[in-house]
Amino acid sequence: MNHLFDSVYYVGAADRTKTLFENLFPLNDGMRYNSYLIDDEKTALLDTADEAVEKEFLFNVKAALGKKDLDYLIVHHAEPDHSSLVCKILDLYPNAVLVTSVMALKFLNQFSGKDLSLRTKTVKEGDSLSLGKKTLKFIAAPMVHWPEVLLSFEESSGILFSADAFGSFGAAEGTLKISEVENPENWTYQARRYYTNIVGKFGTNVTALLKKAAALNIKKICPLHGLIFDENCSFPVEKYKIWSSYSPEGKGVLIVYGSMYSHTKFAAEYLAARLGEKNIPSKIVDVSYTDISYIISDCFYYPTFVFAAPTYYGGVFPKMERLLTAVKKINFSDRKIAFMENGTWAPAAAKTMKDILSEISADTSFPNVTIRSACNEETLKAIESLADAIANS
Ligand code: FEO
Repeated sequence: MNHLFDSVYYVGAADRTKTLFENLFPLNDGMRYNSYLIDDEKTALLDTADEAVEKEFLFNVKAALGKKDLDYLIVHHAEPDHSSLVCKILDLYPNAVLVTSVMALKFLNQFSGKDLSLRTKTVKEGDSLSLGKKTLKFIAAPMVHWPEVLLSFEESSGILFSADAFGSFGAAEGTLKISEVENPENWTYQARRYYTNIVGKFGTNVTALLKKAAALNIKKICPLHGLIFDENCSFPVEKYKIWSSYSPEGKGVLIVYGSMYSHTKFAAEYLAARLGEKNIPSKIVDVSYTDISYIISDCFYYPTFVFAAPTYYGGVFPKMERLLTAVKKINFSDRKIAFMENGTWAPAAAKTMKDILSEISADTSFPNVTIRSACNEETLKAIESLADAIANS
């Protein structure tokens, strides 16, 4: 339990052993489930936590409440990483009223197999809940990233309780506040992969939420995962503006290759070297050894992509096909994409890759590079020409 500010306490907990979030996304540094307790004339617990951290979470709630009873349990988001301990809290605090959206109540009932409606006060966008000195005003945030999501804003302190928005992967270090971490840019790395893979498809909804947020005097942001912004709230908001618009965040070229016998890898490395000579930064990623979530995150950063892969079964290397199937679901804008293919007898990878990405908004007019088994003088010249074309684009 941490005393964060004024009457707001942190009662969440970190799972430092979790290796796959949602059984999908690899974690290098565990995961943190944030929950907050407001100790005002009325007490309110804002969301619960994942059942993996039940013991620590319950300890924190009890410590923050002291001898007080719990008046409200507010559920902003019904996904089980935040709501799996709702019934536990309602059992422990029989006087507590559950405060949530109509749709979240439905989801909580479905997950728990219980009817929690008799204990519930439903709220919607624009509704307020007074706790005494503090009042929470609810804001709807549909599809950020589930349909039932609410955020709440406490006007007297300027705290935005932002649900999954502005959250990040990682258990975080000892400190919870961005003002106390040594390198705040680490947040960007963890938050970009979290945002782009979990919320990335719903950019329009995020943009709508950011418009609502622009009308608020936000001084602090308390998300349901990762670090808390106790200052410099414009930093994550500006990142979200870029990510939700699908515009590239940085400069340079992302080169993703698949390679069975290292010849396509050689082409990727050769291209990166030629780009480097032109002072164009690049990042090389091997699609066979990198989880797709990291590559999707990189795609949000770089303005230019080069996909290089062997031909396989008259199409493209399966791991590249899987990646591109994920890439095409994101509505990227302002991108340029080039293709390098390898084919010993019937190269078809470039056409296949281009076809998969045909619906995304990108300039794919670079000439394809075709490798016949291994790079030769002619292929190297084609790669040099591609580097020139990228430099001039
Ligand atoms: Fe962290 Fe959408 O739950």
